[in-house]
Formats: sequence, structure tokens, C-alpha cells
Amino acid sequence: MELHKDVERIMIGEEELQARVKAVAAQLDRLYEGRRPLVVCILKGSVIFFSDLIRNMQTPIEIDFMAVSSYGSGSKSTGNLKINKDLTTDIAGRDVLIVEDIIDSGNTLYKLKALLIARAPASVNIVTLLDKPERREVPMEPEYTCFTIEDEFVIGYGLDYAEEYRNLPYVGVLKREVYEN
Ligand code: IMP
Ligand code: MG
Repeated sequence: MELHKDVERIMIGEEELQARVKAVAAQLDRLYEGRRPLVVCILKGSVIFFSDLIRNMQTPIEIDFMAVSSYGSGSKSTGNLKINKDLTTDIAGRDVLIVEDIIDSGNTLYKLKALLIARAPASVNIVTLLDKPERREVPMEPEYTCFTIEDEFVIGYGLDYAEEYRNLPYVGVLKREVYEN
């Protein structure tokens, strides 16, 4: 099928995604028991993960959205953080949970976390769907990781390559020929 033609292989299937997201949501429920965290979706890549995660949480939450970019439209990090959309919520004194799609070099979250901490929240935690620890350029350890993966370029379940493939229902490895041409 057209949408799937550039997928080398499925890395994480739909059932495995759902099971893991549910388990991590339960861990977050325990962490935030008795509190009302502000759960922040980092657009656009986290949108599918975020939607599944919050629907599996039992804790009363509030949500907000932020769009940052350090990648442009290619597959290589530029190391610069650009805020394309900021939060609308005042996070001073709030428990903030950042929901990210993937941590690669770590540059994006390293800068984003520092920026949010400067606004004096009560706490900042990071939950990421995917982590590629081999690629890290700065110290950045998320509190919660759904899947640790090898250094391969992945698409689907929100993740894109040049804005495409976000609606694939699984996490797949992109064929090398797509980004090497
Ligand atoms: P970092 O600043 O290098 O950690 O980059 C994190 C961002 O890079 C993510 O939010 C993604 O937008 C993008 N990214 C890194 N690796 C991949 C990948 O394998 N597939 C799709 N996007 C990726
Ligand atoms: Mg992203």
C-alpha cells in the first residue's frame, strides 16, 4: 500500500505499542497520585503517543501543547531550538510532564527542560516513547522511556520524515534510499 511502501520493516507493532503505553501510564498514575500534573504534548511528533498515554491515565490532568524544532525537514539535528508555539498555561508551581516522541542527540529536550525550569514549576519529568541512547550528545535522561531502540531512522505513530508517514499505526524503520537520495 502507498503509505507503507517506504517502510523497511515494522519495529514496534500496534499491540506492543498499546501494551507498553498502558504500563507506562500506570507508572505515571503512581508517580502523580493526589496531584494534578500539566501534561505537555511536544508537537507534532508526540501527538499520537500523547493521546494514547493520557487516555490510559486515571490521574486528573490538564493538557497543553508546545511546538519546538531542532531538525528542519531532514534527518540531521542542527542543534538549534526554535519555539514555534509556546504553552498557554502558567507553569509556576505546577507539576509538568513533558511528553516527547523520541530522544536522539538530546539537544531538543536539554534546552527545552532548562527553558521550562526557568519558569519555576514544582517539578519537571520527561516521558518519551522512544530513546536512541547511542546518539546522545548532551546528558539527557528521561524519567520514563517506553522503548529503547538502535540507531535507525524510524517513522510512524506520530514520527515523520519530511512531514510524511505520521499516520502509520506502527513504528517502522524508514528505507535508507528515501533519505540517502
Ligand atoms: P534530538 O534533539 O536530537 O534529541 O532530536 C529529537 C527530535 O528529532 C525528535 O523530537 C524528532 O522530531 C527528531 N528525530 C530524531 N530521530 C528521529 C527518527 O528516527 N525519526 C523521526 N524523527 C526523529
Ligand atoms: Mg519531534
